[in-house]
Amino acid sequence: MDFTGKVVIVTGASSGIGAASAILFAKCGAKLTLVGRNEQRLKEVAKKCHAAKGNQPLSLVLDLTQKGSCDAVVARTVVAFQKINVLVNCAGKVTIGSLFDDNINALDEMIDINLRVPYQLTHLAVPYLKQSKGNVVNLTATKYTRVRHGFLGYSIAKAGLEKFTKNAAIELATEGIRVNSVQPGLTRTNILSNLAMSEEDRRGAYERLSNEMKVIEPEEVAKMVVFVASDTCPNLTGAQMSIDGATSVM
Ligand SMILES: NC(=O)c1ccc[n+]([C@@H]2O[C@H](COP(=O)([O-])OP(=O)(O)OC[C@H]3O[C@@H](n4cnc5c(N)ncnc54)[C@H](O)[C@@H]3O)[C@@H](O)[C@H]2O)c1
Repeated sequence: MDFTGKVVIVTGASSGIGAASAILFAKCGAKLTLVGRNEQRLKEVAKKCHAAKGNQPLSLVLDLTQKGSCDAVVARTVVAFQKINVLVNCAGKVTIGSLFDDNINALDEMIDINLRVPYQLTHLAVPYLKQSKGNVVNLTATKYTRVRHGFLGYSIAKAGLEKFTKNAAIELATEGIRVNSVQPGLTRTNILSNLAMSEEDRRGAYERLSNEMKVIEPEEVAKMVVFVASDTCPNLTGAQMSIDGATSVM
């Protein structure tokens, strides 16, 4: 897959699936905007991207839920590279929450980063994607989250992002813009570290969960992200691309 001369924004690029996708896009020749919160980790990813094909990424260390952040991502990308071909909405977060909690803020937090930010970034990128006949890739989640205890807010937000993907695909088809989702199964990343878990507990959780479902490596999900974003299938839009070792059909 060749992304030479193409400009790709990857949010959540400082770790996990976002980092693996950014590095693979770079190997395919893309010019990248990397967005993340952890400066040190983002620097390391940017270094690997630069080493891949010589393109220096634009690295933006910011919290996407803060006012003005999404505008800054799109505006600074256009200043740096004059166009946008692909937007990968990968930044996401899981917190545990339930209807028994009094704290409704937990739901707002899940909706904010997992749904509102992708909506807003897509909205802001549309004029540029229209020019480039580009596309959007949203990282949603495989269907196992639907039945997991404690993941109510996350599940709702990701279900919303799935609906957003399909609606946006229909709306933007008239402009030649594709919108798809990639649904990873349980992937070995930093995502569980938000659950106030020690590194040891996190590793243990993956060990335990691997008895009941397949654990995917982020580099494999990245291959799906890059494939979906490529021009390989020009009519691939409104699709949900599951990569979960059949977890969702169990
Ligand atoms: N790991 C899994 O099992 C799994 C399964 C299904 C879906 N996903 C989805 O894949 C995507 C990537 O997650 P991951 O597993 O690589 O986890 P991760 O924790 O390694 O990466 C998430 C990234 O999002 C960034 N991020 C979170 N909140 C942010 C904010 N407010 N502003 C800017 N950046 C922010 C983090 O800094 C990090 O770089 C997420 O959308 C996640 O929901 C992951």
